[in-house]
Amino acid sequence: MNLVFLGPPGAGKGTLAIRVVDLLKIPHISTGNIFREAIAAKTRLGLKVKEIIESGGLVDDITTIELVRERLGHSDTAGGYILDGFPRTIPQADALAVFSKLDYVVNFDLPDTIVIDRLSGRRVCRKCGFNWHAAFNPPSKEGLCDKCGGEVYIRDDDKPESIKKRLEVYRSQTEPLIAYYREKGNLVDIDASPQVDAILVNFKKALKLS
Ligand code: AP5
Ligand code: MG
Repeated sequence: MNLVFLGPPGAGKGTLAIRVVDLLKIPHISTGNIFREAIAAKTRLGLKVKEIIESGGLVDDITTIELVRERLGHSDTAGGYILDGFPRTIPQADALAVFSKLDYVVNFDLPDTIVIDRLSGRRVCRKCGFNWHAAFNPPSKEGLCDKCGGEVYIRDDDKPESIKKRLEVYRSQTEPLIAYYREKGNLVDIDASPQVDAILVNFKKALKLS
């Protein structure tokens, strides 16, 4: 099953994706994670996108489309994939339509007030990438991941000014994709406000998996 997870920053796309990987045994492809790994490894791509990402802007379409086109060519996507954070602009969506066919676009619906709460408290494991939250789901030892013992840190783009910019960019560049995919007939709306177990139940119902 070929899936796109669409929604504002902090809506819980990455958190649900981990659960859906277990359920459907398909890879989770997060463009944000790929960029952050490149930044950590100080590759050419990482150096190019570091400032853009930290400030909350978008990486250019050509770079991002080529990255995803290449990634979807790997053999592990033969049985499907979860694309998390791509497409984020109409040109990206048009490009994706040329090289892959989507089954569902899952639209995570969440008001800005909750988005800001989730992003301001997010803590990420540097080793396994798990998304903890200082209030909603804290690791038992501060600064250490319960799952793998890795160091837990605050993402550079979770500063208040970057969060504000990411929300503005989402409204102007990404939100139009909701109408784009609704018109194509493969959009599924998910209320992203309950706990992740409840979201998973609703996700399965919406995709007729249970
Ligand atoms: P990306 O990494 O994709 O960031 P994002 O879209 O802003 O989304 P987030 O990862 O911030 O949020 P999420 O929805 O995954 O929420 P999470 O599960 O972590 O992109 C980063 C940057 O890369 C972009 O700004 C851009 O610069 C660049 N980029 C990426 N893709 C691009 C593209 N296609 N084109 C151009 N540039 C691109 O959850 C958030 C918090 O809430 C966590 O703490 C979690 O524990 C908590 N939480 C989650 N679910 C729940 C719940 N149900 N209840 C309570 N708490 C919850
Ligand atoms: Mg994410």
